[in-house]
Amino acid sequence: MSGAERPELAAVPETALWTLWQRAVEARRPDALLHDPKAVELVDRIDFPFAERFGTSGLQSRLQALRVGCFDREVADFLAREPRGTVVCLGEGLETQYWRVDNGRAQWLSVDLPEATELRERLLPPGPRQRYLAADATDLTWAEAVDRDRAVLITAQGLLMYLPPARVRELIAACAERFPGGSLVLDAVPRWFARLTRTGKMRTSGYQAPPMPWAMDARERDKLRTASPAITAVRDVRPTADHGPLASLLPLTLTVPPLAGHRPTVTVLDFATRA
Ligand SMILES: C[S@@+](CC[C@H](N)C(=O)[O-])C[C@H]1O[C@@H](n2cnc3c(N)ncnc32)[C@H](O)[C@@H]1O
Repeated sequence: MSGAERPELAAVPETALWTLWQRAVEARRPDALLHDPKAVELVDRIDFPFAERFGTSGLQSRLQALRVGCFDREVADFLAREPRGTVVCLGEGLETQYWRVDNGRAQWLSVDLPEATELRERLLPPGPRQRYLAADATDLTWAEAVDRDRAVLITAQGLLMYLPPARVRELIAACAERFPGGSLVLDAVPRWFARLTRTGKMRTSGYQAPPMPWAMDARERDKLRTASPAITAVRDVRPTADHGPLASLLPLTLTVPPLAGHRPTVTVLDFATRA
């Protein structure tokens, strides 16, 4: 712990430190599934007992890397199609995705609660194409900050599970209706996992994850379409690993029941273009 920044965050914003730590743990591995030097640098600069509080589980860092890989791939594909597009990152915390996939031309809007945004501003000062907004993602005021002349991709990575189910549905519907032709990439934890967080049984290395009110099993994915008639397509984003034991295990966990139906998921929702 050599850094000067000593964050003291409430339980949900603190989860941004957990995901940052997992990315750094993974990125430090010689056989890393994720290249994230900015996360490693940040962890070194922050005065926080990461290892003590969150542990150093290789399994967690690998799982986190798989999720991050899904989001990075979707953002990179979007930027390949729309190099001058806008990426809106809801609940971005201390994500370092900009440093992994930016193309030098896109606009980036980061939305998070005030305490997380203030920390992000101090640790990762925004560049000329980045804007940070301290706001509740479920209150669509952030939508006013999005340039309507550019294509839009919205991401909600590690966010929706902390919201009440009705707010998740409202947020998805509002995005579909406010961003014609846009898309939303979101992830969900399965119901069994959320249940463990709500009964205080999701403890790893002494750390207890905050309760997760919203969850979705993989087989329920298509129900997301019912949030709004403006949702035109629902697509599963499958994690990939190009080396190590996960390379052969993943295809099994993604296809063989009951694992396949009860795994964490990443999903893309496409929105109708306005008639
Ligand atoms: C698990 S962290 C994920 C951070 C980042 N997306 C990542 O994957 O590393 C959850 C983030 O969601 C933010 N968050 C929770 N509720 C929010 C809300 N209502 N509006 C905006 N951000 C929220 C937290 O402050 C935190 O930064």
